[in-house]
Amino acid sequence: MSEPSLSVSTARYLKGEFHPPGDKSITHRALIFASIARGKSVVRDLQRGKDCLATLSALKMMGIEMKEEEDGLVVYGQGLKGLKEPANILDCGNSGTTMRLLAGLLAGQKFYSVLSGDRYLRKRPMQRVVEPLKRMGARVFGRKNGEFPPLTILGGGLKAMDYSSPIPSAQVKTCLLLAGLYAKGRTSVTEPYRSRDHTERLLKFLGAKIEVNDLRVSVEGNDSFSGANIWVPGDLSAASFFMGGAAILKGSKLKILQVGLNPTRRGFIDVLLQMGADIEILNLKKICEEKVGDIEVRGGSLRGVVVQGQTIPRLIDEIPILAVVACFAKGETVIRQASELRVKETDRIRALKIELTKMGAQIEEKEDGMIIKGIGKLEGAQCESHGDHRIAMALVVAGLCARGKTQVLDSGCIATSFPNFERALEEIAT
Ligand code: S3P
Repeated sequence: MSEPSLSVSTARYLKGEFHPPGDKSITHRALIFASIARGKSVVRDLQRGKDCLATLSALKMMGIEMKEEEDGLVVYGQGLKGLKEPANILDCGNSGTTMRLLAGLLAGQKFYSVLSGDRYLRKRPMQRVVEPLKRMGARVFGRKNGEFPPLTILGGGLKAMDYSSPIPSAQVKTCLLLAGLYAKGRTSVTEPYRSRDHTERLLKFLGAKIEVNDLRVSVEGNDSFSGANIWVPGDLSAASFFMGGAAILKGSKLKILQVGLNPTRRGFIDVLLQMGADIEILNLKKICEEKVGDIEVRGGSLRGVVVQGQTIPRLIDEIPILAVVACFAKGETVIRQASELRVKETDRIRALKIELTKMGAQIEEKEDGMIIKGIGKLEGAQCESHGDHRIAMALVVAGLCARGKTQVLDSGCIATSFPNFERALEEIAT
């Protein structure tokens, strides 16, 4: 069966207002924490892309009841000990977040479970969670000695751990903190740089005893918390594609409404500002421990930048669109210390080099990043998504800014994180 493709023509500018879909990272967490909280939660404006729906149906398979109501999705939390053994394999689809977060949750359950996913997810590294979960006492197995899914988990009987993660990864951190909720004692995770901290914020909002000391986060085993009304802000990662397009195309004036502006996520905004982009943040407020606001972006001249170190985890998912923006900036953009890109939904360094080169970009591939020469233009081409939603969306924006027509093949993957992408695009692109 051939996958759908998307044809894109040159846009003059991006104009208007739009609401991005709910934040993907927060939606996964809201669903999981609401399921193990005591009592009812209402999750408002959650994201309904395929990744988050995979988490939702896995929780339903473990006996969690949910009901659609006008206010949002009602989740009937069963407390820490209320999950039931699933009768079948839990299908995580394309979602690394689903698999790694659920691995932590399942490590705490005294039952048998299997996590699998699509052909892309089954190639992604899992040892980063399997090894520390085994150290906590869980019995976790996977292909190639635990490196690849499917994962089989026989949980329960966990002991707490003080873990130093070699990589800044919110998936690893959240996985171990979830397991820590089921372990005896206090579990801590320390990271080399701060990764996104939605777990910390949401657990605090729900009243859990979570402690953050600089780069170290700790939870207490058996610490129960109650359900609540959880509002999911707009997804900055989804918004970033149109922000990037608006920053490139002169004459653009785009307002993105009610977007999450968590400091651990806003690296792309900070880098665009450094590149000279015209961005304004309005109506800033705090909801459910998360910063939220509107972002207004106007098109203008941009210059190249160096992106590295602690900025990388703050914009790791935005590097595909940053690479497109860099093609239109004056001078070189250097992205370093970003080898995590090699193990995302696809090898994003490779995919960007291959696909943007088809459009005339000048990119030097490095083991841990890339150097992009700003040439101020791209040419339309036939490109491929590599099955990766963010590569697909970055190529669509590249197509809007390129001369001539662009076709993005295998664009169906966009639905994993941005279900109404095409409609949003039609509304704002002129
Ligand atoms: C995510 C963490 C990041 C990010 C992913 C979502 C999360 O992955 O790339 O899209 O929700 O925790 P890593 O933890 O692998 O860095």
